[in-house]
Amino acid sequence: MTTKLEALRSEPPSLAREGVAFEGVGRHYSSRRGDTAALEDLDLRIGNDEVVSVVGPSGCGKSTLLELAAGLQEPDSGAVRVAGSGAPAGRLERTAYMPQRDGLLPWRSALDNAALALECGGVGRAQARRRARPLFARLGLERFERALPGELSGGMRQRVAFARTLLAGREVLLLDEPFASLDSITRAGLQEWLAAILAEEPRTVLLVTHDVEEALYLGDRVVVLSARPGRVVAEIAVELRRPRPRRDVVTDPAFSALRQRALEALAW
Ligand SMILES: Nc1ncnc2c1ncn2[C@@H]1O[C@H](COP(=O)(O)OP(=O)(O)OP(=O)(O)O)[C@@H](O)[C@H]1O
Ligand SMILES: [Mg+2]
Repeated sequence: MTTKLEALRSEPPSLAREGVAFEGVGRHYSSRRGDTAALEDLDLRIGNDEVVSVVGPSGCGKSTLLELAAGLQEPDSGAVRVAGSGAPAGRLERTAYMPQRDGLLPWRSALDNAALALECGGVGRAQARRRARPLFARLGLERFERALPGELSGGMRQRVAFARTLLAGREVLLLDEPFASLDSITRAGLQEWLAAILAEEPRTVLLVTHDVEEALYLGDRVVVLSARPGRVVAEIAVELRRPRPRRDVVTDPAFSALRQRALEALAW
């Protein structure tokens, strides 16, 4: 007899060219208020060019998971590898991380914040700006190139941070709630746009979101984490053909069934 957990799990894709692997990962934080177990015995593999969405209750360790992949934190137990590299520097140079807080530099213009991703890779500022401009236009930011982050709305700042992440040109994208403070129309448009970019130029993506529909629409697989300490309680393969025109997908009965499975796993 299959258990509920087994029924919710599905096989990850081939790991012949490994993307990201978490093996028995534990991460605890110590502070004046005591010890907090953020993640415990977490196993997760993301295949090359696979898009995996992660959902789970607030505080279950989703941002911690991304920081571990990005090489910004080390696990207390277990191992994290990105394209075969377990060293923090190796993970750092293979990933582009978009943090939940945008981390824009307040003294740099919006365009120069995005261009920074290229400048860090040795591209001159003028050329970096030239390459960042088309992305700005696509993100609806063309009139705000010279604005400072303090002059932008939360949603605009998020789009600038998103541009910076894409421009870094890394093989693995780690996106922490990339569209969280956008209105629903802009958000839906950017989801379609990201899906189109990934179709043209596949990347390995770990996407954290609170939005189950977004998780399903963008993901090849949706991973559901338990409440803190986070562990994987369900892995749901999203076997919907691509391209996925948003309006057709969200009204598809197969999509509704997947949403139901994800919501049940979240309530578990
Ligand atoms: N630097 C830190 N020091 C102490 N505790 C921390 C630290 N960072 C995170 N935590 C704790 O670890 C747990 C997991 O945090 P994390 O930010 O990874 O969760 P999350 O799933 O991303 O939450 P949210 O959905 O609210 O963004 C939380 O209980 C949080 O309070
Ligand atoms: Mg978080």
